[in-house]
Amino acid sequence: MNLTLQIWRQNGPQDAGRTVTYPVSNVSPDMSFLEMIDELNIDLIKKGEEPIAFDHDCREGICGMCSMFINGEAHGPDRGVTTCQLHMRTFKDGDTITVEPWRAKAFPVIKDLMVDRSAFDRVIQAGGYISVNTSGNTLDANAILVPKADADAAFDAATCIGCGACVATCKNASAMLFVSAKVSQLALLPQGKVEAAERVQNMVRQMDLEGFGNCTNTGACEVECPKGISLENIARMNREFLSASLTH
Ligand code: SF4
Ligand code: FES
Repeated sequence: MNLTLQIWRQNGPQDAGRTVTYPVSNVSPDMSFLEMIDELNIDLIKKGEEPIAFDHDCREGICGMCSMFINGEAHGPDRGVTTCQLHMRTFKDGDTITVEPWRAKAFPVIKDLMVDRSAFDRVIQAGGYISVNTSGNTLDANAILVPKADADAAFDAATCIGCGACVATCKNASAMLFVSAKVSQLALLPQGKVEAAERVQNMVRQMDLEGFGNCTNTGACEVECPKGISLENIARMNREFLSASLTH
């Protein structure tokens, strides 16, 4: 396939940035989107030009690093996949493809397609964990019964990979889907209930401090989330937050 790429290039956080057009040829339909950019970068390096900076790590849909807008959609046009799982057979010979970084105040661009998502790390540090007594007297987790429905819902929430597509897709740059997944995965389980009230209040406070916007129930986040995280988590987090506000 021969394609035309229009890729956002930005030298650093203060640079205004611009779109640069790159023709690419002999693209295999079996390549992943990232492999296609790898090939382009090899050509750029051979020509003495600066390669395109983009985040990636696992390349199997687990780490959440490969975050970019492709033709205006987070992780591209396919549903339920990350950019590293997107294949070039999704596109047609002759297509023009635009590639941009996430756009959100809380995710400043570092360079080209890379953004700083450390705001998510700080939200997790504010409460996305359980404090475990490791004195040797801890009750074995397997000895604590958990209803199957709760275990399933907690597992579904725990599949959030922290990619930030929900924030980038939301017109308000809201992080509610991400934060609610992290709150839910713990609030649903007995081990997480102990600190649940404190957790939801601290994580929501940090989310607001980081400059994420409010949720206005548009639902775009759920559509673009590569892991299918449900809006039900936002409803659960709102209930958790209200109940914590009334009792703490
Ligand atoms: S909720 Fe979905 S889109 Fe948002 S960070 Fe988690 S996996 Fe990514
Ligand atoms: S590189 Fe890890 S999810 Fe894409």
